[in-house]
Order: sequence, then structure tokens, then C-alpha cells
Amino acid sequence: MTASVKTLPTEMPVLQAKEQTLPTEMPALQAEKQALQKEKPVIDIFNLHRIYQTKAGSIQALRGVSLQVHRGEYVAIMGPSGSGKSTLMNILGCLDKPTSGKYYFQGTEISGYSADDMADLRATRIGFVFQSFNLLPRTSLLRNVMLPLVYSACPLSQREKRARAALKSMGLPEQLYSHKSNEISGGQMQRVAIARALINNPALILADEPTGNLDTATGEMVLETFAQLKRAGRTIVLITHEPDVAAHADRILWIRDGLILEGGTNEA
Ligand SMILES: Nc1ncnc2c1ncn2[C@@H]1O[C@H](COP(=O)(O)OP(=O)(O)OP(=O)(O)O)[C@@H](O)[C@H]1O
Ligand SMILES: [Mg+2]
Repeated sequence: MTASVKTLPTEMPVLQAKEQTLPTEMPALQAEKQALQKEKPVIDIFNLHRIYQTKAGSIQALRGVSLQVHRGEYVAIMGPSGSGKSTLMNILGCLDKPTSGKYYFQGTEISGYSADDMADLRATRIGFVFQSFNLLPRTSLLRNVMLPLVYSACPLSQREKRARAALKSMGLPEQLYSHKSNEISGGQMQRVAIARALINNPALILADEPTGNLDTATGEMVLETFAQLKRAGRTIVLITHEPDVAAHADRILWIRDGLILEGGTNEA
């Protein structure tokens, strides 16, 4: 009682201040946008090349790709088979290194990183979603989602709590959490994989054909999940062959023969 009475006098000015800011909400949004533009991009790559050496000779998979992705953007990458999409994604996800070129991740140049540094960055700042889900079979949903926390400083007592929250945020019913990952449907598997990708609160979510193994209706559900993540301010880069899937993104990058042809904008 006493506490609420005490807070009353200060409550009014706060309310008034809120009311006063209402008409200026639009400039505030613009200011937020401008601040985002000034912030270092999540991904900033410059003149990236990747040459694979094979017995048959060298293959130029990427031939001078430059790209910036800012926080909160949802970018789709499209292009024919063999154009270099997965090669680019592997480099963006620190699974592979470019032959030459610069990669700034959240403002830090990482081409000099050791394998350990790359693994650390992957584990703590990047969430991956794959076409084939890549869940551990015969292992419970909870354990699958908790897995990335092994590499983090998260105390044991918190791990299960966070995994439960992540599964719940994906709309998965609690009675499934102790089920094995091979005992659920494809759509559920992909939502578990997204929960796992999100558990470390990553700066970047990378998805390679995340709806490729799903039927249309289930694929739509997974795409709606990505749309929600985008609305929640997540940064997403997604590879797809399907224009319907790419249409959900803010921007589509077309890649062909190892070069980005154009990065159009999808107006919402
Ligand atoms: N590990 C590798 N060793 C040698 N060549 C490779 C390797 N990975 C990819 N390539 C070659 O690099 C080029 C780009 O391949 P990449 O996998 O990036 O294409 P993609 O756009 O992802 O194709 P898809 O749509 O079929 O998945 C292709 O010519 C491919 O054969
Ligand atoms: Mg590929």
C-alpha cells in the first residue's frame, strides 16, 4: 500500500511524458532507423573470392562478392544450382574461409581468426538452420536444444530452463520436450532446429533451404516463424530456390557464377 501511494506522485509526469511523445513517434522511428544505419553492419564483406582446388583444376566459386547486412534485416539469397550460394553461406557462417577478401562480423575483421576463434564465434553468435534439420536422433528435443549451451558460459541450472523457453516460443507443446527428435513431424523438427539456433541469442541466423524438406503447408508455418523472428528484430540470411519463400524477405540477392548480380528490395 505505502509503496503504491509513494509512487503515485511520480507516475503522473511519466504518463504525461508518454502522451507528449506520441505525436513524435514517427521521427523517433526514423531516428531508430538512422541509428541502425550508423551501427556497424552484422555482415560486411568486401571483394570475397573462394577458389576450390580440385584434382581437375581450380574452381572459382566466388569471384569478388561484396555485401552488407544490417541488424534486423531479412535477406534471401537466390540463384541457380552451383552459383555459389552455399559457398557464400559457409563463409558467412565461419564454417569456411575465403581465399581472399575481407569479412567484418559486427565490425571486427575475422579473416585472421584461428579455427578455434571461428568455432567460438559460430557457437556464440550464429544460429544455423539446415534443410535436413541436423538434429541428433534418439535424443530428446530438450537435449537437442540445450546442445549449443555446452559451449557457452550458461550455468547448468539455467540450460534446461532456457531450452524449455525456446521450445515454447516455437509453439511446441510441453509434452513433446522429452520425446526423441526422430519421433516428431518434419515441421516440428524444423521448429526444434530453429529453437536450437536461437538458444544463444545469436547476432545472425543463417538458413540454407529451411523449407526444402517440408510440404507446402508446413513450409508456410516455418516461414511464418522466420517472419516473426524478423519482426522481433532478428537478422536473417536465408538461401532458397523458391520465389515464394524469398518473397517473405526484405531484400533478395541474386547470385550467379560466383557474383552477386543484384540485391533488389521487397517492399512490404
Ligand atoms: N568442397 C568443394 N570442392 C570443390 N568444389 C566445390 C566444393 N563445394 C562447391 N564446389 C563448387 O563450387 C561451385 C559453387 O557451389 P555451391 O555449393 O556454393 O553452389 P550452390 O549455389 O549452393 O548450389 P545448389 O543450389 O546446388 O546448392 C560449384 O561449381 C561447385 O561444384
Ligand atoms: Mg547449396
